Amino acid sequence: MEVVIKETYEEVSKAAAALMRHVLNAKPNAVLGLATGSTPLGLYAEMARMHREEGLDFTHVTTFNLDEYVGLPASHPQSYRTFMEKNLFQHINIQHQNTHVPSGTTGNYRAFCEWYEQRIKEVGGIDLQVLGIGSDGHIGFNEPTSSLNSRTRLKTLAEPTINDNARFFDRREDVPIYAITMGVGTILEAKQVLLVANGANKAECVAGMIEGPITAMNTASALQLHPRCTVFIDRPAASKLKMLDYYLWVQAKKPHAPY
Ligand code: PGA
Repeated sequence: MEVVIKETYEEVSKAAAALMRHVLNAKPNAVLGLATGSTPLGLYAEMARMHREEGLDFTHVTTFNLDEYVGLPASHPQSYRTFMEKNLFQHINIQHQNTHVPSGTTGNYRAFCEWYEQRIKEVGGIDLQVLGIGSDGHIGFNEPTSSLNSRTRLKTLAEPTINDNARFFDRREDVPIYAITMGVGTILEAKQVLLVANGANKAECVAGMIEGPITAMNTASALQLHPRCTVFIDRPAASKLKMLDYYLWVQAKKPHAPY
């Protein structure tokens, strides 16, 4: 795992966006895996800026989102489809038919999940997967004890996740308790992974992900098995890393990295 440590969230977002630009320049028809949550907002704002000011082109880009709440129609203000439209898709020249967010209202979840996996394969697999990390170490909605080989499926959310996400809903009872999520196995098949984390409340799960044992109790730790995973974190999120000095030293020795 490559660990990139920046002073501020803004710098973290810019560094992650530089990797995104590098991938899109090399492959204009790249397939992106995308995440929701507060963390990638800075990255998405930077992608929108690069489109506006530098002409970064998304015409041939295809996207797959990690997850969606079950029970929320795409048009619901808290659906992840709405989140993506508002925070990224409306601001870039992506073609709507090339964007995929799991359906929260399908009548047949099992068939839908199989179709989603199939669709990813049909377009050649995910070139760059964007991830955040939940305070319980989840990636996507792969809560603790999820199989590290799991595929896209229906998942029951853990209580800390419901509490974390309650801030977006009027009442805690309104937070859906089920979601469709890509599995850990699905995520590990992406050719390259970019994970962003910021803030002291992520320090523990970040340390577990990078330096802890590979365990289903912190599903992000499965990324230790990925050959091409870059983690972008700010100082507070890096504060519990034992090998901090080593990561900073490695970073200083890589002046030609795109970030
Ligand atoms: P956050 O969520 O970016 O809002 O902290 C991260 C996650 O749950 O993956």
